[in-house]
Amino acid sequence: MAIRISNVNFYYGSNQALFDINLNIEKGDTVVLLGPSGAGKSTLIRTLNLMEVPQSGMLDIANHKFDLTAKADAKQVSLLRKEVGMVFQQYHLWPHLTVMQNLIEAPMKVLRLEKEQAIERAKGLLARLQLAEFAERFPLHLSGGQQQRVAIARALMMQPQVLLFDEPTAALDPEITAQVVDIIQELQSTGITQVIVTHEVSVARKVATKVVYMEKGKIIEQGDASCFETPKTEQFAHYLSHSH
Ligand SMILES: Nc1ncnc2c1ncn2[C@@H]1O[C@H](COP(=O)(O)OP(=O)(O)OP(=O)(O)O)[C@@H](O)[C@H]1O
Ligand SMILES: [Mg+2]
Repeated sequence: MAIRISNVNFYYGSNQALFDINLNIEKGDTVVLLGPSGAGKSTLIRTLNLMEVPQSGMLDIANHKFDLTAKADAKQVSLLRKEVGMVFQQYHLWPHLTVMQNLIEAPMKVLRLEKEQAIERAKGLLARLQLAEFAERFPLHLSGGQQQRVAIARALMMQPQVLLFDEPTAALDPEITAQVVDIIQELQSTGITQVIVTHEVSVARKVATKVVYMEKGKIIEQGDASCFETPKTEQFAHYLSHSH
């Protein structure tokens, strides 16, 4: 099991955003999180690397176990972050650093890689993501799709066990979206576990090995990819009927 979430409840102040979430994710799964705006998808994915810390429940991820009713140990959280990478809709690249510098910064600081080693690793990833020619560019001199691929490369530099994506294709045109889908599919063959929030059911259908459908802070339906054809709940069937 790569990820086990048990009885997780999350509150923003007095506003409860996650209600008793239970979810098991196998190593190598690609999980898509679907649901209407405000369902709690971003909140849930952010709890997986403890960017948001739920008030109760258990989180077991990449061999790190947290009882969330207790205060999380900062050292344990930083160990967790080494294993659980995140890619956002808005790329979050450092604008004052080149692509190469963006990639090697965290592995040198956090994993204590030698600069030469980090550069070697970065070159390999840039080649794999068809970004080799952009190594010395600044992020703002790249297209959105290129920046998103750099953000994926940067996350992969840490060689995480789990990679989280929050709407990775939301700002991208169809061709670039297809490239990101290709990358996600290619990563599946490496055994990495991926969790992806998306509003694009067509993207979800292409990559999902597991589907989680949420509404109002609750998991309404979960299952394998067959639930796109045969949803078990009226709510998910209704959601699918309105997507394109
Ligand atoms: N920082 C915050 N403070 C207070 N409430 C928040 C905060 N972030 C989110 N919420 C609330 O928590 C609920 C879940 O939000 P969340 O962002 O997880 O939804 P989502 O499913 O990702 O939506 P979207 O598809 O629009 O991104 C919503 O009711 C939202 O208003
Ligand atoms: Mg969101």
